[in-house]
Amino acid sequence: MKNSRRNFIWSSLAVSTLTMTRWGWAAGVNGSGIPGSPEMIELGKKWKALNASDAKQRGRERFNDNKYGMFIHWGLYSQCGGIWKGEKMEEGDGTGPRVAEWIMRRKEIPRAEYAKLAKTFNPTKFDADEWVAIAKAAGMQYMVITSKHHDGFALFDSKVSDYNAVKATPFGRDIIRELEQACKRGGISFGVYYSHALDWRDGGDSGMKDYCYHDKPKQEMFVNKFDPAPVKFDDYIANKSLPQVRELVANYDLKEIWLDTPIYIPASHSFEFYKTIYEANPETLVSQRIGNGFGDIGTPGDNVIPDEASENTWEGIATTNNSWGYKSYDEDWKSPKETLFWLLENVSKGGNFLLNVGPDGTGTIPPKSVQNLVAVGQWLKVNGDAIYGTKPWKVTHEGPTGIAIKGTEHRSKKGFKLDVTPEDFWFTKKGNTLYAIAMTRPEGNTVSIKSLKGHPISGINMLGESGQVEWSEKADGIEITLPTFGSKGMGYALEIIS
Ligand code: GLC
Repeated sequence: MKNSRRNFIWSSLAVSTLTMTRWGWAAGVNGSGIPGSPEMIELGKKWKALNASDAKQRGRERFNDNKYGMFIHWGLYSQCGGIWKGEKMEEGDGTGPRVAEWIMRRKEIPRAEYAKLAKTFNPTKFDADEWVAIAKAAGMQYMVITSKHHDGFALFDSKVSDYNAVKATPFGRDIIRELEQACKRGGISFGVYYSHALDWRDGGDSGMKDYCYHDKPKQEMFVNKFDPAPVKFDDYIANKSLPQVRELVANYDLKEIWLDTPIYIPASHSFEFYKTIYEANPETLVSQRIGNGFGDIGTPGDNVIPDEASENTWEGIATTNNSWGYKSYDEDWKSPKETLFWLLENVSKGGNFLLNVGPDGTGTIPPKSVQNLVAVGQWLKVNGDAIYGTKPWKVTHEGPTGIAIKGTEHRSKKGFKLDVTPEDFWFTKKGNTLYAIAMTRPEGNTVSIKSLKGHPISGINMLGESGQVEWSEKADGIEITLPTFGSKGMGYALEIIS
């Protein structure tokens, strides 16, 4: 049986690569459904009907217009800051990524011992309105917070499991409710992350035994092998994961639900999640990590700068240092300039950018990350028209700067050196208006934009500056004379009207 299923995977791979290489829907750790199997074809049709509905389309339009959001990883692990019993997570043996929310897995902390962290979870500095104010000052238009990460602990009140912020901690407050309400007051969209297929407390072996069709499991590093709950994966889905997702979509106004880490989840389960969310609110968008291709929002991957543009609905996701959860000793912050670079790389290619902060155990977002985010927010106050509500143009970028970052560890190991020149321009468009965005200002006041050659131009403005912009056509592009900058700051954006 195992072998014939495996052969089927191989013979159907050609089909799956065809659809999967449309990046943004990249395969990876994507569930155990067999591409091309009768079951996948059948479920795929049902998914497509819901995904193509008018309600989902409204959800996608709102999502795409928002462009920039705040991701928040917060939970019991935030109290550890990447250190367990005096030892950093990089020290000693350990399996899995070195990101702080993985401490339970890396240090193989037994479930009962880890649960003691709930007894000390009392983040008295947490203030939902303040977090929303920071997101807004950063120019972000939505927020997505971990309502339950792989450690199984929920930040919302739940009838399904008492292992949550209201019932198991001295804090006793529903953090998800407070943030949902604060986002509403602040006028930004709200969504949650929920680790549906991976739960080191209650998820058993995450389906490895029942649903892994490879002789050697490829995703073993995800799974709790040190102290797994003695339950079948299907029972975990039926008794905790799906009921908690039902609670979330029924009780909170969610614009987005970021299910994560599908590894071995079968297609029937992924589809059940999708249908459940759709029935509660058909406009709520679901991340592709629901598994088996049944998402609404693609992603190029954790801390990945995508190579190409895509008109699919997608979201680049990145950290402000090199961890999602709070890591007390990681000071490798993305500077405002680097942050702006990531934003431009994602938005010019047609995506959103969801940038993460990791508040500590007291409920404080690290001040350095706030400072960097607010600096980009200042830039967006002036140049936001070139970002929000835009779509990709036929050219995404011109100029010498090109940086490949292909994952969280890639950046942390290689470092990040940004050397943008005044010849670098990123492009976006809105209706008949084209935007050319530069991250650095030239020495003199002339620049040349090659990709504008032949583009109909009736006027050019510089966002935030009132001075006249002159232009003339040259052999290799459009030469533009910029006005004297009245403002300080990083770069500038030109609004080119046809
Ligand atoms: C991965 C990690 C997780 C993090 C997420 C963010 O799934 O397991 O820790 O939450 O990526 O995209």
